[in-house]
Amino acid sequence: MSCKCNCNSGTELLKVDYNNMMSDILGDEGISQNELEVMSPVVENAFNDVKEGRGKGMMGWTDLPYVQDAICDEIIETAKGVRDWAESFVVLGIGGSALGPTAVFQALCHMRHNELSKDKRNAPKFYVEDNVDPERMYALLDVIDVEKTCFNIITKSGATSETMSQYLIIVDILKKAVGKDISKHIIATTDHEKGNLIKIAKEENLKTFYIEDSVGGRFSELTPVGLLPAAVLGIDIKGMLAGAAQMDKVCMESDIEKNPALMAATLQYIAMAKGKNISVMMPYADSLKFMADWYCQIWAESLGKNIDNAGNSVNYGQTPVKALGVTDQHSQVQLYVEGPFDKVVTFLSVEKFRKVLVIPHGCEDIPDVAFLGGHTMNELLQAEKEATEYALTKAKRMNHTIILPEVNANTVGQLLYFFEMKTAFAGALLDINTYNQPGVEEGKNATYALLGKNGYDVKKAELDNAPQKSSKYII
Ligand code: PA5
Repeated sequence: MSCKCNCNSGTELLKVDYNNMMSDILGDEGISQNELEVMSPVVENAFNDVKEGRGKGMMGWTDLPYVQDAICDEIIETAKGVRDWAESFVVLGIGGSALGPTAVFQALCHMRHNELSKDKRNAPKFYVEDNVDPERMYALLDVIDVEKTCFNIITKSGATSETMSQYLIIVDILKKAVGKDISKHIIATTDHEKGNLIKIAKEENLKTFYIEDSVGGRFSELTPVGLLPAAVLGIDIKGMLAGAAQMDKVCMESDIEKNPALMAATLQYIAMAKGKNISVMMPYADSLKFMADWYCQIWAESLGKNIDNAGNSVNYGQTPVKALGVTDQHSQVQLYVEGPFDKVVTFLSVEKFRKVLVIPHGCEDIPDVAFLGGHTMNELLQAEKEATEYALTKAKRMNHTIILPEVNANTVGQLLYFFEMKTAFAGALLDINTYNQPGVEEGKNATYALLGKNGYDVKKAELDNAPQKSSKYII
């Protein structure tokens, strides 16, 4: 029962196989056709909300596949310049300003990119620094030569403490190493006007790319946030956007049976109502490993909300969990098969890998090993995915599979956009604000107060007056 996608142009589209969500297979633990039909007015409203909201408010991300020809050319030109001289390219950012570049790098570059020789790499070494662990920063500085490094500082707000502290550290080191003019070494990606980074970028004469106000951090991978690092790595960024455009067309199909993102969102919505509070994302491809991290952020920050649009207290959300097939079959799958009935497992599977590896014949006198010979690793991976799917389904656990024809720039663009649309539809079904993150802001503001940032005296007083920890509970 795969969605009937319109595979009408460009690369073949990803498909969603949702058989194992349905009562035809899971019995009472599944979702019936009748439940889907009863939902149709609510689904229609949610679909119309998203369709009518396109390009407005915080939904500027729906325009991204179509309006970036000129900026792509500028990015490709800048990336070419960087590739000509830089030995390393370092992204400084966090959350939506880091997870996308990491996911796309893993998906589309050699899996040992940084360890390849310069000739084979054909691009700078690539690092994404999304934490403020001092040991990690020292470790980075041990392996890069700052004089031969280009840093891309990415922060939409231009204010995030983690990213700005990294900026201060790197600028200090750079100025000592190369002198006052650091403009060759730093590219800024930020808001046109808001925040501190744009002011700094102007003062330091930094090459700057922009994130539109109407695109939130976790929806920003298809802006220069993700496109510049990808272009530096030699990835076909126009191909990514073409894939996103292909997916966009399908996602504007009002018939749910032809719209994979609307169907996936609706199934998750019904599953949430049935107490499935955990969404496991389990790629069966190492190339898609960090897509699960990227998904975790967009799903968690967008849907984890305490009030709905009418102001009712709701405390919605589905906790995303990342897993990797087959690795986590030997770690988490026992829980998924036999533990609480509180999860929906989403498999990411790839029809055609970029490599085929035949397992050689051997150990003929040990049949329990010899049976593997002659199969490919590709077959083994697929068999293990099907076996895990079978074990879950037999145990009546909801699961479904997103199938990519192969992993390339186009299908990665499709996948990113599919998840963005799925999240938008899910937020509309829940009738919440998908695009704010007051919980994240609370933590950011408390950090500012604790570190003495101007204007945060009231927040500091609030923290000082909060219930204090007692030493009797620390043992
Ligand atoms: O989705 C979001 O808005 C957040 O997760 C941000 O991406 C994250 O907090 C980083 O923010 P900024 O890009 O402003 O530094």
